[in-house]
Amino acid sequence: MAIRIPFLKSKNRKRSTIQTNESLPGHVAIIMDGNGRWAKKRGLPRAAGHKEGMKTIKKIVKKAVELKLNVLTLYAFSTENWKRPKSEVDYIMKLPSEFLDTYLQELIDNNVQVRTIGDFSALPVHTQKAVQTSIDETAQNDGLILNFALNYGSRNEIVGAVKDIVHDIEQQQMSKDDINEEAISERLYTKDYEDPDLLIRTSGEIRISNFLLWQIAYAEFYFTEVLWPDFDEIEFEKSLIDYQNRKRRYGGI
Ligand code: FPP
Repeated sequence: MAIRIPFLKSKNRKRSTIQTNESLPGHVAIIMDGNGRWAKKRGLPRAAGHKEGMKTIKKIVKKAVELKLNVLTLYAFSTENWKRPKSEVDYIMKLPSEFLDTYLQELIDNNVQVRTIGDFSALPVHTQKAVQTSIDETAQNDGLILNFALNYGSRNEIVGAVKDIVHDIEQQQMSKDDINEEAISERLYTKDYEDPDLLIRTSGEIRISNFLLWQIAYAEFYFTEVLWPDFDEIEFEKSLIDYQNRKRRYGGI
């Protein structure tokens, strides 16, 4: 029997207030999808969708700061996204500097710490510089961790952890019996963060697309048809209210 996943319709825009005294997720991970379709619907180039998507990031970060979430991980560029036309890849790679040029001071003022996961070294140098500046400039902050997944692929990350373990065994720094979940977790990009409590994907696609496969073992999933550029504070709150209504059992009863 097919299981239908009920989408939360965006028509009902009536503001429902979030209960901040009820448990909020510590770590929210988001697959920001639908920029291209948003632009196409308006007869605009795909780049316009990505630019609009950047504005959404600002709104969501602001709300995450306000709600005192610990970590917000945003899937900005996957290891598979290199397959896109070069002009689109080049455009996306310019977005971090555009975003951070205009927004870094606000991030600093809001006590946000910028971080990344993914293979940073394979990004264009200008992208690396922009992101590294924001990491350095926000390193002293201790508020929200704003974690951009850039050139990130979960399988690749797990392969890296396996290689690292084999290396450590060969160097006799650990033995086969030391291999456990913790040994893997501490070799992932996300080693310093709690696992995501809530995974959101926008745009109606119901898949994970190689994002945080190990880390989302017990995450709650929230899929919405709203395209990323249309996702806003109210839609974000809806996802959090939905999360608050879930019963997390972690395999128990
Ligand atoms: C998915 O929509 C979106 C992306 C692959 C890129 C997302 C990037 C940003 C929103 C900006 C990143 C900015 C910073 C600061 C790192 P899609 O293009 O797959 O949309 P479609 O499925 O409708 O075609």
